[in-house]
Amino acid sequence: MRRRDTPPQRGAYIWKDTMTDLVQPATRPANPRFSSGPCAKIPTFTLDKLNDAALGRSHRAAIGKQKLKAAIETTREILGIPADYKIGIVPASDTGAVEMAMWSMLGARGVTMLAWESFGSGWVTDVAKQLKLDATVMTADYGQLPDLASVDFATDVVFTWNGTTSGVRVPNGDWIADDREGITICDATSAAFAMDLPWDKLDVTTFSWQKVLGGEAAHGMIVLSPRAVERLESYTPAWPLPKIFRMTKGGKLIDGIFVGETINTPSMLAVEDYLVALDWAKSEGGLAGLIARADANAKVIHDFCDAHDWIANLADEPATRSNTSVCLKFTDDRIKDGAVFAKAVAKRLEAEGVALDIGAYRDAPAGLRIWCGGTVDTSDIEALMPWLDWAFNAEIAAQ
Ligand SMILES: Cc1ncc(COP(=O)(O)O)c(C=O)c1O
Repeated sequence: MRRRDTPPQRGAYIWKDTMTDLVQPATRPANPRFSSGPCAKIPTFTLDKLNDAALGRSHRAAIGKQKLKAAIETTREILGIPADYKIGIVPASDTGAVEMAMWSMLGARGVTMLAWESFGSGWVTDVAKQLKLDATVMTADYGQLPDLASVDFATDVVFTWNGTTSGVRVPNGDWIADDREGITICDATSAAFAMDLPWDKLDVTTFSWQKVLGGEAAHGMIVLSPRAVERLESYTPAWPLPKIFRMTKGGKLIDGIFVGETINTPSMLAVEDYLVALDWAKSEGGLAGLIARADANAKVIHDFCDAHDWIANLADEPATRSNTSVCLKFTDDRIKDGAVFAKAVAKRLEAEGVALDIGAYRDAPAGLRIWCGGTVDTSDIEALMPWLDWAFNAEIAAQ
């Protein structure tokens, strides 16, 4: 079996001696892609699946419009989005969708911002520093949730369903008031297609193709409840809105956006890829099938953590543990420098070709983050676990 040298500054001498006792696992994941975005493509993906893409054609031609509309309506079907909700394909991925919602709708009443990891914190920065709104900001440390029971639903509430960089999700939507006066804006990019989203509680929901379905980046989706449409048609913000944020004209919703007449030019290759992923999702049993796949993947890691005392889920409460972006921390007393150690483990696994891109997000606590969304095969997560053990022990010996 091939062994790799550790760079001399990391104590190669000691490492080599100890490594003779560490046997590498026999099985490697068939697909080592465990990135939290862009995420692994569907297991059946090959480039020739995109042969039907309307390349070189106008997205306003009948074929382009038909494909964009199919992307919208198949999304509705799989996610169970109510018929009276509007679904649009918008520029700039999930970020574009969240920001167009906040820029278009906030400022009409008080705002509460919930944040417990870096993406939620980014939306707080938008609202406080860019829109300069005097929002109530409720935060929690990585691993926890803010106190959801004390959220004031007389205000608009902005939150992330699944905090991708801490692996903490809201357990359900029960904390969201049915009779709320404000609207809810939910960044659900690492939740849609992997978790149950209660549409009656969500006025604006956003996600991107590059996440749970392993689609291509650059396009976002925005889902609007009738209350969100009402806000758009009754409120004009005090600040200027760039064209790519504008969902209304003359005080009326631009209906075309929600049947596939995109604000600007989409990639028809990315659209085709999304349609292929949606087809695969249907073949896997739709939303229930995708949730089951993500749950099974996450369970393999949860069980591994239960069986090993040197690693733990970053999410404190079991009910808040993500089934997509599973974040892990090392808890062994022998570790000298947590950040150096975690990076070295991730690097070792990448060098062996068994796990790509599983280092914790740059702003998150040191550790690992393993994507468990439905495009990942459970057998690959299972094959990865013994490698975690191997890399951990190798790095303990090497430090
Ligand atoms: C919770 C959350 N929000 C927003 C984003 C940004 O998504 P995008 O790069 O698709 O705009 C991400 C990406 O990882 C995310 O996980």
